[in-house]
Parts: sequence; C-alpha cells; structure tokens
Amino acid sequence: MSSEGKPLGIRKVGIVGLGLIGGSLAKAIHGRTDIKEIVAIDKDEASLKMAEEEGVITGSSCDDVSILSGCDVVILCAPVDVIKNMQDDLAKVDIGMITDVGSVKQPVMDAIRLPNFVGGHPMAGSERYGYACSNGSLFENALYVICLPEYSEVSANMLQSFEELIRAIGAIPMRMTAKEHDERVAAVSHLPHIVASSLSLLMANRDDGALSRMAAGGFRDITRIASSNSKLWAGITSNSREALLPILDEYIDTLTKWKTALENNDSAELEKLFAQGAIYRDHLDINLRGALEASATLNVHVEDKPGELARITAILGKGNINIRNINIRNFRTYEGGQVSLLLGTTKEAVEAYALLKEAGYVCD
Ligand SMILES: NC(=O)c1ccc[n+]([C@@H]2O[C@H](COP(=O)([O-])OP(=O)(O)OC[C@H]3O[C@@H](n4cnc5c(N)ncnc54)[C@H](O)[C@@H]3O)[C@@H](O)[C@H]2O)c1
Repeated sequence: MSSEGKPLGIRKVGIVGLGLIGGSLAKAIHGRTDIKEIVAIDKDEASLKMAEEEGVITGSSCDDVSILSGCDVVILCAPVDVIKNMQDDLAKVDIGMITDVGSVKQPVMDAIRLPNFVGGHPMAGSERYGYACSNGSLFENALYVICLPEYSEVSANMLQSFEELIRAIGAIPMRMTAKEHDERVAAVSHLPHIVASSLSLLMANRDDGALSRMAAGGFRDITRIASSNSKLWAGITSNSREALLPILDEYIDTLTKWKTALENNDSAELEKLFAQGAIYRDHLDINLRGALEASATLNVHVEDKPGELARITAILGKGNINIRNINIRNFRTYEGGQVSLLLGTTKEAVEAYALLKEAGYVCD
C-alpha cells in the first residue's frame, strides 16, 4: 500500500547487497507495504539465510542475477564500486526499473547507462554495517534523493510508483541533479567522515593511555562516524573526490581562521567563529533526519545503581513519549554516567526534560 493506503502497483522487488541499507530497505518494504515478493542477492550467504529465516525475503542467491527476473524494481545496495560494475549483468535480465542507493551519484550514473536506471540515495545510515544491524525504521523522515539520468526512459507512472514506495517506508522523496547531490553530500556527509576519522587518528597517535580515559562526550559525539566500515568509505570518498576536494580545501581554510585567531590571541575573533558555527547548528531542522541524523537528544545524568534505566523509561512511557534510541555512557567509572535519549521532536525533548526534572534528574 502507498502512504495513502492505495496499492503501489509494485509486486516484486529485488535487492542487491543485503547489508545495513539493503537489509533496512527489505525490512521496511516487508513491514510497511503490500509487496509480497522480495528477492535478494548478496555474496554473504549468512545474511541471506538470516533474512529468509526472518521472513523478510522470499528468495535469494549469492550471485545469480536471473533471480531478479520479473522484478518491478531492483535496488542496488552494494558498495559503490560493486554497483558501478553491474551494468552488463543487469542488462541480461528483464527488470522494470533499476535504482541504487550509492552515496555518490554521477560516477554511478556514468557507469550504468541503462534506459531503465534511475539514481537514488536515502539520506539515512549509521556507522554500523551488515544485515544484522539493519532496521525497518531507518528511513523514517529521511530525505530520499532521486537523480534522473538524461538517458533515462523510465515512465512517469513508474517513477510515481517508486516515489510512493519511498513514502510508504517513511522517507521523503526529493529530486535533484547528480551534480547538486554530489556537491551537497560531499559537504554534509563525506567531509564529516574525513573530519571524524582524522580527529580519531590524531588522538590515536598521541594517546599515552591517559588521553583516551579523559575523552568525554564531545570527543565521542564528533568521532562516532569514525567507526564506519573503512573499505566502504574508502570507496565512497574516492568516487566523491571531484566534489570532495574543493570542500576539503574550504575546510582547511576555515581551520586556518581558527589557527590565525589563536596565533594572534584574538578572543573576539574566536568568539565570532564559535558563535557563527553555533547559530547554524542550532537552526538545523531537527524534525528531519538526514546525513547529520538530526534529532532531539536529551542527556540525563544517572547514578550507578540498579533500576535507573527502567525508572527513566517508565517516566517517559507514562508521559507517552517515544524513545527512539538509548545510548548509555558510563564514562565516569564508579560515579554513574549519562543516558543519552534520542527523541523524535524538540517538543518531546522539552516534555521529557520537564518530567525527568520533576522526578529529580539532572538533564542537559
Ligand atoms: N552506511 C551508510 O550510512 C549509507 C547511507 C546511505 C547510502 N549508503 C550506500 O549504501 C550502500 C551499502 O552500504 P551499507 O552501509 O549498507 O554497507 P554494508 O557493508 O552494510 O552492506 C553492503 C552489502 O553488500 C554486500 N556485497 C558486497 N559486495 C558484493 C557483491 N559483489 N555482490 C553482492 N553483494 C555484495 C555485502 O556482503 C554487504 O552485505 C553503499 O553504496 C553506500 O554508499 C550507505
């Protein structure tokens, strides 16, 4: 069914690469639409077996593309360099529409010049990978970028059905050119991955044992995505280099402004730079999940004693507040720690803050 309860007009979907994104798509389509047939290809037999046992997919193969025959939509969810090499295999099979989820669009669209191909990129993900980490709610409120190649012959009806499918899994379709997409994701996704990893690497080279023990919330937050799959991100960033190199240069220039302000001991300039960064960060639309995975986070300080987590969840449950994710940070050994609650909206965060404060918790 579509988001408005109408049939989607899509009966069979194929997924190539049943990892974090492919598995999450399969689970979302299985759980939220009337599509009965979902087949998958993955070189990892264990992932296919798990998905079949869970009833998420109805058929699978490690490498036989003929399983995709008769699919209305095939979604390529393997690493970008694997997707780029699939044109010849896909051309042999009878498929309605082919799309992909690759994090760069122009190189993929240059490599797969099939008339039934349309580029795609759901702006949702995480530093985790593999089918075991997939989840059917991953795309809720996420932008799902669609890029139409100039050679595309996909009908307007087919595209409309695909956009309905995107809405049915909770995401928001958005069309743009491959160039616009690649420049934007280089800035909001690919550069932050390099920043997180380079910061983590810098600390790794300096760590004398005490440094990592002193690393608190700020360091953990900014380096979270440094834990991503290194092979996958090497492929993404090297395919993104045309858009990434200019923005990396701009970032280095921006860092230089901080360096100059420090060299000149110019605290007014430092304050201006921090304030400009804060103003932009504070005005991001926190109801929209995207590459920055913006959402409302509430940090609750807790004592290290049994039942604390149950007490917090019970208070919020009574207040009818849905917790999307919980992260426990016990970084002050023997002194309790912090529970980080991911909530859907700022309104919920404000309500949760009031309820927890009333119950005696310190939140920020
Ligand atoms: N991780 C993210 O945050 C994110 C977000 C949006 C889009 N993407 C894109 O999604 C795609 C997949 O990323 P992921 O995070 O799901 O990675 P992943 O490692 O979780 O999944 C990739 C899957 O592809 C399979 N695979 C690899 N080579 C294959 C081959 N030759 N044939 C068949 N299967 C093969 C792997 O076994 C794995 O199951 C990439 O193109 C990436 O650019 C990732």
